[in-house]
Amino acid sequence: MKKIVFLTGAGISVESGFSTFRGANGLWEEYKVEDVASIEGYWRNPSLVINFYNKLRKQLVESSPNEGHRLVASLEEHFDTTVVTQNVDDLHERAGSSNVIHLHGELMKVTSSSNPNDPRCIQTLTPERLDIHIGDKAKDGSQLRPFIVWFGEAVPMMEEAAKAAMQADIFVVIGTSLNVYPAAGLISYVPQGTKIYLIDPNPVRVPYGIDVHTIQKGASEGMKELKEILLAQK
Ligand code: OAD
Repeated sequence: MKKIVFLTGAGISVESGFSTFRGANGLWEEYKVEDVASIEGYWRNPSLVINFYNKLRKQLVESSPNEGHRLVASLEEHFDTTVVTQNVDDLHERAGSSNVIHLHGELMKVTSSSNPNDPRCIQTLTPERLDIHIGDKAKDGSQLRPFIVWFGEAVPMMEEAAKAAMQADIFVVIGTSLNVYPAAGLISYVPQGTKIYLIDPNPVRVPYGIDVHTIQKGASEGMKELKEILLAQK
C-alpha cells in the first residue's frame, strides 16, 4: 500500500464552524496570540488562558466533522494513511481517521503546569466534565492546564511527524497558511519525487523550490477532487 501523509491546519475545520487564526475574522484578530497561545501569557494570566480553552472546548463538543475530514478518513481504504494536524480539535478522529499526530496538542486533554509532557499527568476530559478551573490539580500537584503546545514551548510530536513525512509517497497539505514553524517545515522532509498536493481556497506561499499541485478550493470540494485524481492513478 502506498503511504499518504496529510498536513492539516485550521482551514479543514472551517466548514465545521471554526475560525482560522490569521486573516480577516481570524481568532488572532479577536484575541492576542501572546495572551492566549504563549507560555508567557499563561503564566501572566492563567485564568484568562484556562477560560479561553474552556470556551473553545465547549464549541468543539457542539460541532461535528465535515465532509473534508470524512474524505481524508475514507482514504484509509486505499492507502497507508497518516494525518499530521496542527489542529487541537478531535474532528479527524471523530471522522474515522485512526492515525492522527497532533503537533499542537489536544483540546480534550489537560495536563500538569510543571511537566506538561509527562504522560502520567495527561487526562482526557469528557462531555460531563468539560471545564477546568484555577485550583484543579494534576497528578503531580501542580495546576491543571490545557494540553496545548503554546508559542515558546517545544513540539514533542515533531520527530514522529517528520518520520512520517520522510516516508510519504503522496503528501497533501490542507487549510494551513504554513506560517508556524516547525510544523510548516514538514513539507521540506518530503522525499524528492513525492507528489505534493495543496488544498486551500486562498494562495499559500510554499518554501522556495518545492513543487506543489494546487487545488484552489475549500477542504471538502478540494478533497473530492483529490480523491478522484488519486483513485484514477491507482
Ligand atoms: P491559519 O489561520 O494560519 O491558516 C488557515 C488556512 O486555512 C489559510 O491558508 C486559509 O486560506 C485556509 N482556509 C480558509 N478556509 C478554508 C476552507 N474552507 N478549506 C480549506 N482551507 C481554508 O491556520 P494554521 O495554518 O492552521 O497554533 O495555523 C497554524 C497554527 O497557528 C495553529 O495551529 C495555531 C496558530 O497559532 C497554536 O495555537 C499553537
